[in-house]
Amino acid sequence: RKKVTIQHLHQLRKSGTPITMLTAYDFPTGRACETHNIDMTLVGDSLAQVCLGYDSTTRLTLEEMLHHCRAVARGSRSPFLLADMPFGTYHTSIEDAVRNATRLVSEGGMEAVKIEGGMEVLDVVRRLTNVGIPVMAHVGLMPQRHTMFSGYKVQGRDAATAISILESALALEEAGAFAILLEAIPHKLGAYITSQLRRAPTIGIGAGSQTNGQVLVWDDMLGTWSGHKAKFVRRFGDVRNEIERGVRSYAEEIRARTFPALQESYDMPGEEWDKFVE
Ligand code: KIV
Ligand code: NA
Repeated sequence: RKKVTIQHLHQLRKSGTPITMLTAYDFPTGRACETHNIDMTLVGDSLAQVCLGYDSTTRLTLEEMLHHCRAVARGSRSPFLLADMPFGTYHTSIEDAVRNATRLVSEGGMEAVKIEGGMEVLDVVRRLTNVGIPVMAHVGLMPQRHTMFSGYKVQGRDAATAISILESALALEEAGAFAILLEAIPHKLGAYITSQLRRAPTIGIGAGSQTNGQVLVWDDMLGTWSGHKAKFVRRFGDVRNEIERGVRSYAEEIRARTFPALQESYDMPGEEWDKFVE
């Protein structure tokens, strides 16, 4: 399989071929994206909740993110590989943003970073792009700001907010963002923003079917956990039930001494055993 590049992603947009993106957090999930032809693998900061048990992405540190980026990178070759910049790693100064994004690339093995924000992150997007770190911008619902938003809510349902999301997306593209992620906005707005951008593909999550691509969180998509299911999540698998069935039967069969069976045990030649017990 050919390496997915930014040029390739832009070609997919031009030809109207939907772009597939999926999150991964470790070697096996990175491998799965690689093996099953996902275009872009995102080490999302949803890592905080779905793998590390935190209640918010704002708890994730850069060191924790780097540890998981390295594991995903070891399992990835073809997909375009990017990671979220954790909360607080791109706000203190442009220099800090460059230093931290550089670590995600050089130590983490990432090709690009994703940043939540609108007009207030334009300078960071411009600088990272200029030093050669491609940026995917993330607008609409921004989970790192859930406290400011008073929860995880659809954004852009009123005209004023819709205009500000559109203007942010256009300005972020102008600042150099190679793609724009749209989270939890009305489908008409997702389609409109997609039509107004000149170069950057849109990747939607809860932004309707007309964005240039789609992304979901691995654990939501495969049903590995019982956490809150957002309206935009479709479960394409039921891994949680499989895990429950497997773990329960394992424990039951140990207790019933039906595991391991004789054919799952090692034998010893009879004469050797006789010598041993002598
Ligand atoms: O952290 C994440 O998984 C994300 C996706 C939901 C887009 O940002
Ligand atoms: Na994220």
